[in-house]
Amino acid sequence: MTPLLTIPYPIFVGHDLLDRVGSLLEPRGRVFVITSTQLRERFGERVAKSFAQADIIAFEEGEAHKTLATAEGIVTEFLERNAKRDSLAVVVGGGMVGDTAGFAASIFLRGIDLVHVPTTLLAQVDSSIGGKVAVNHAKGKNLIGSFHPPVAVVSDISVLETLPPHERRSGLFEALKGGVIADPELFAMFEEQRVDVEQVVRRAIKVKADIVAADEKEADLRRWLNYGHTIAHGIEAAMHYEGITHGEAVAWGMIAANAIAVNRGLLPERERARIDDTIRAHEPAALPQLDPEAILAATEHDKKNTGRGRVMVLPHAVGRVGVITGIGEDELRYGVDAVLTRS
Ligand SMILES: NC(=O)c1ccc[n+]([C@@H]2O[C@H](COP(=O)([O-])OP(=O)(O)OC[C@H]3O[C@@H](n4cnc5c(N)ncnc54)[C@H](O)[C@@H]3O)[C@@H](O)[C@H]2O)c1
Repeated sequence: MTPLLTIPYPIFVGHDLLDRVGSLLEPRGRVFVITSTQLRERFGERVAKSFAQADIIAFEEGEAHKTLATAEGIVTEFLERNAKRDSLAVVVGGGMVGDTAGFAASIFLRGIDLVHVPTTLLAQVDSSIGGKVAVNHAKGKNLIGSFHPPVAVVSDISVLETLPPHERRSGLFEALKGGVIADPELFAMFEEQRVDVEQVVRRAIKVKADIVAADEKEADLRRWLNYGHTIAHGIEAAMHYEGITHGEAVAWGMIAANAIAVNRGLLPERERARIDDTIRAHEPAALPQLDPEAILAATEHDKKNTGRGRVMVLPHAVGRVGVITGIGEDELRYGVDAVLTRS
């Protein structure tokens, strides 16, 4: 099978790939399939059977379990089962599983090879690509992590059929974001209501992969991927990460960023209407009554702040964004208000 692209690790996209993961990879030492207890039977065992021999390690799902303790538990399993430096960690699940088990693989014996088999739309178009792995700290999400690119990514489109609608929407909005950043044709699929999941996944992977390949160290280009994320993080924190998926928060965050961009004269009103209407047509979860100050306070800790005023990614048009520095508190408030009054 030919990968969709190689950056330099191959990314395979297709149907019914879970049963073929082993045959897509170079033969190697011991294989450990790491998944959640919830996904073990449905997906993990199928992936394990695709190898001549593989151990399965399973842990509990959920952000509350995305911790150092869980990662340490995986390391303990590696040790008890005699994993070695040449062992392979094949991680099967959504972004929570990918981040946690990927982090464990990055610290075990200073790092063993990792393969991502993402099973949510968000994980396929976003978290499995780019090499970031992390767990949460009591003080915030993803604060303990490393940079550990996989040796391969295998995205099976067929597994997405069982995704709950809100998880599907979460991934769709991250993909739509990719369209606004760099791919007008991908955006048009959403605008014209012709969302074919496989095509969307392929195009969205290309947007992210091209950006991270051009900029493996998160300098300016990679920042583009943060479009919509400043205020999304504020919304998620203000809602205590409940009742809204990450991608849906990004949907509202993009609408807020667009308002700020129009106000600065960067984005023509007509383009704003196109993007906002398309986002709303795909129905992100409605926001509850939120205190704008709580959202703003939560953006304070945004990792993208440099100390020289806030940095935000704002669009100029569909397919073109820019990194804008020196965003004032009043501008952020204006963006938050634009979302809260019209959500
Ligand atoms: N590393 C990165 O670059 C990066 C980027 C974005 C997000 N993330 C992280 O990703 C996580 C969110 O990931 P997510 O959105 O994939 O959610 P998730 O991993 O929490 O999964 C959501 C739910 O979907 C279930 N699920 C997974 N695959 C399924 C399938 N095929 N059918 C039915 N149910 C399925 C899971 O069991 C879980 O209950 C967050 O922790 C976030 O911080 C990381």
